[in-house]
Amino acid sequence: MEVVSVPDSVREAVCDAAVVGVWNGGSLTPSAKIVDEASGGLIQKLVERKEVAGKLYELTTLHAPPGITAPLVIVVGLGDRSKFDAGVAYRTAAAAARQLAGKTRTKVALFLAEDAAAVYAADIVAGAMVGCQGADLYRTEKKRNPFERLLIAGTDAQAIERGRIIGEAVNFARRLVDEPPQSIYPESFAAEAERAAKNVGLSCEVWDQDRLERERCGSLLAVAKGSSRPPRLVILEYRGGKAGAPPIALVGKGVTFDSGGLSLKPTDSMVTMKCDMAGAATVTATILAAARLKLPVNIMALAGLVENMTGAAAMKLGDVLIARSGKTIEVLNTDAEGRLVLADVLNVALERKPAKIVDFATLTGACVVALGTDVVGAFTNDQAWCDAVVTAADKAGEPIWQMPMFPEYSEHIKSEIADIKNTGDGRWGGAITAAKFLEEFVEGKPWVHLDIAGPAYFDKPKPWADAGGTGCMVRSILELLSTVGN
Ligand code: BES
Ligand code: MN
Ligand code: ZN
Repeated sequence: MEVVSVPDSVREAVCDAAVVGVWNGGSLTPSAKIVDEASGGLIQKLVERKEVAGKLYELTTLHAPPGITAPLVIVVGLGDRSKFDAGVAYRTAAAAARQLAGKTRTKVALFLAEDAAAVYAADIVAGAMVGCQGADLYRTEKKRNPFERLLIAGTDAQAIERGRIIGEAVNFARRLVDEPPQSIYPESFAAEAERAAKNVGLSCEVWDQDRLERERCGSLLAVAKGSSRPPRLVILEYRGGKAGAPPIALVGKGVTFDSGGLSLKPTDSMVTMKCDMAGAATVTATILAAARLKLPVNIMALAGLVENMTGAAAMKLGDVLIARSGKTIEVLNTDAEGRLVLADVLNVALERKPAKIVDFATLTGACVVALGTDVVGAFTNDQAWCDAVVTAADKAGEPIWQMPMFPEYSEHIKSEIADIKNTGDGRWGGAITAAKFLEEFVEGKPWVHLDIAGPAYFDKPKPWADAGGTGCMVRSILELLSTVGN
């Protein structure tokens, strides 16, 4: 999809459909006003009749009046004017694009909110690109058809290019998540990452089974043992910052399918578990986009890739593993596999002397119980670093909430036989005991753990998103990386 800025007003824009915005309560944006005037007050009448209220994601299709070149006008609700931010810009653009992409359209022009367009142009472009892209990778007839051309009002080529790169990154992460587990498994994920890295000139290292064994990644390897698919560790590096400055490490959980292992999940919980590599998808998509955006920062991304299965060699309850760091781990639930994978990947990351670490993982159902499906849980050993991550997510408009890390929780992961065990005592506080487990492997380095089990994957569609992978946190972390420097 080509994205260009539209110099014309909504009157002259040559397109199949023009999208204009209305604020909550019915006050019209400048473009909506132009359409309203051309139509002799049609939108105002709809507002009076409460057909158009300006509520978030409300969409009304109008036949364009004479004087407007486009044949159709879509009126999109922008919600409260005082609450409009990058997240609302992204999601309203996605909602409008999603509806419009339900039919084949050549050119669509977005006039959303002119006053804010310059500030949020990249978010609007990214949202529109995500809205156009369906999750129906294998549907014979697609439900969404990206436009040939997207026209954006009130912005410049530079902001559009930024939005395009971000939108493509989100869609790349979504596609990796949406691909079925028969086609995305550790080797194929690594191959995709390698290919994508080559395209943007990033260095990419892939550790295979042999290498992982030589590197004593006993914890990650134990998870892989139950599968016929061998594990992989992908390490991508981008150096856009000062030579020699320590990088920011992005670590991702890449369980390409989580059956639970011998602690087998019931069907209802297993059915979406192709999404369990969303963390790996996030870090891969993010570093590629950071390279394309030429962000002035050094970054490395590490994705630990395994399939958690029940094969004859599968790890057993009671097994004791020796992690790469030397810590011993008693396995009391094979379904708490994400932390086993991350324990070793975090250790590899540390060895490469990062300045700071952020990890991304669909780690616990408990986090979804605590925060719901829309909110990322943040856990840290370093408040300043967590504040930076949360501020970036707030700025991108992605919901996030910090969870406590009281030392008392560490008691719950003490083992009778080994250094630690991979579950808490019972399920209470499960998101926190999981984070406490990870903390054991970061050796005091500033670290933020993001549990994305809720927002990484939608079981049902929302007005602004198809069901499936969401690419959550890609925008937030690009925001973070644009501002941190190192
Ligand atoms: N991948 C799951 C967590 C998950 C749940 C992700 C729902 C996305 C949606 C993880 O590996 C898991 O199974 N966690 C267990 C941990 C428990 C066994 C301590 C859980 O949350 O039940
Ligand atoms: Mn699991
Ligand atoms: Zn898992």
